[in-house]
Amino acid sequence: MANVTKNRANKRVTPTNEVLLEAEHIIKYYGSEQKKGEQRVLVLDDISLQIHSGEFIAILGPSGSGKSTLLRILGGLIRASSGMVRYRGQEVTGPNTNLALVFQTFALFPWLTVLQNVELGLEAQPNLSRTQRTKRALAAIDTIGLDGFEDAYPKELSGGMRQRVGFARALVVEPKLLFMDEPFSALDVLTAENLRHELMRLWREGRIPTKAILMVTHSIEEAVSMADRLVVMGHDPGRIRAILQGLPLADRVAKTPAHEELVDLVYTLITQPDEDAAQIVAAAQQQGAAEVKSEPKAEPKPYQALPHVKIGVINGLAERVLRAGGREDLFVIGRELQMEIDDLLPIIEAFELLGFGEATGGDLVLTDEGRRLAESDEQADKVLFRDQECQHIQLIRQIKEALDAAENHEMDETEILEQLEEYFSPDEASRQLDTAVDWARYAELFAYDDEAGLLYLEDAAPVGNGE
Ligand SMILES: Nc1ncnc2c1ncn2[C@@H]1O[C@H](COP(=O)(O)OP(=O)(O)OP(=O)(O)O)[C@@H](O)[C@H]1O
Ligand SMILES: [Mg+2]
Repeated sequence: MANVTKNRANKRVTPTNEVLLEAEHIIKYYGSEQKKGEQRVLVLDDISLQIHSGEFIAILGPSGSGKSTLLRILGGLIRASSGMVRYRGQEVTGPNTNLALVFQTFALFPWLTVLQNVELGLEAQPNLSRTQRTKRALAAIDTIGLDGFEDAYPKELSGGMRQRVGFARALVVEPKLLFMDEPFSALDVLTAENLRHELMRLWREGRIPTKAILMVTHSIEEAVSMADRLVVMGHDPGRIRAILQGLPLADRVAKTPAHEELVDLVYTLITQPDEDAAQIVAAAQQQGAAEVKSEPKAEPKPYQALPHVKIGVINGLAERVLRAGGREDLFVIGRELQMEIDDLLPIIEAFELLGFGEATGGDLVLTDEGRRLAESDEQADKVLFRDQECQHIQLIRQIKEALDAAENHEMDETEILEQLEEYFSPDEASRQLDTAVDWARYAELFAYDDEAGLLYLEDAAPVGNGE
């Protein structure tokens, strides 16, 4: 027996050519397919992906790009609108029984002990005896480092320990596939680091029987540190922009130049959603080991969409980049601001839209206007914003022109909302207008009377408002 354990412990898991799980031309709509076109939202557009035995795959992409949806389809938890998922060549038509799931947080039962919570993972295996069940649960608890906490209740545990219970509950079924959706993002940095490290060790050393791991994450660092391949998704609609080869094991843990290059490349891809991914990767390829496998072309946007960013942050960002000499690494900026990519991305997008800078090669580079913004005082800032907004922001320019032409220099919001609703959902249309008003107000271009639903020129209060 000791031999068996020893052999297993010595078997290093590495990617093979055997296709374990395969998605072919997955398309997913949410919303009723019977209703008319607009009701249906295209969430995943033609996703094809192969997961090999021995592989650790990370899926990255902005919020709403369909990462969780893809994970659920691959696991057979929800059905695609079209396309096919195969596990070992067999079509998947329901929840894959070889699969265990780990989420950001777990719903542990507060009235059950750690042991009882872990045993719950085995509920779907009725042919196990009570003793077998307990034995397996105890082994999983031991493996995941919860030894000694068997009889503790969830409320007595730290966040990190609770997440370990979740992992134990997933691993107790000895899953062939482990899917994780942002498994470490609710944990503090050190706890996450520890748990990541231990999971990797268990897996690499073949101490859990899992054949492949799929992880959705917001952390580029995390993906680069762990994955054999990285799937970078884009949104509107969700699609694969690039599949990148991960680093050799030695470069994953250490902060080697290769590690930083790959982090930079993924940053560049995600912060430049409208650029050609193949070109970005090709540009980086001289230095890195990245390899593009697929790159469906993005459709041009019919109407400029404003990122919902409070305009006040733009100024500070320009100053920060100027202090670095007019060019700063986006990753450094994100880390300094303690921002996840999803929070940083819209800010960078706004910055670029306004013509204050350009994200290129993983850096944010100031334009001449960006430099002027960083150097000028508040009054000059407003003038700069006014110029840039009128020049670059379609919606603001349109409203300003309409207000200039209108008799009372005011207009009803419904006029503009109706137009926007041709391109956006009603909710998003109203958010677009809110953002435009926020930006325009900051530049003292025009303002908005909430109660009357009126847009009016800043220097001309709406008639009848009495102000
Ligand atoms: N059950 C649902 N019904 C309708 N729309 C949904 C449903 N689930 C998700 N969506 C929409 O589908 C899109 C993709 O969602 P999904 O959760 O897969 O994205 P994600 O990439 O995992 O995002 P996040 O990073 O925020 O977790 C989003 O626009 C979301 O609003
Ligand atoms: Mg998600």
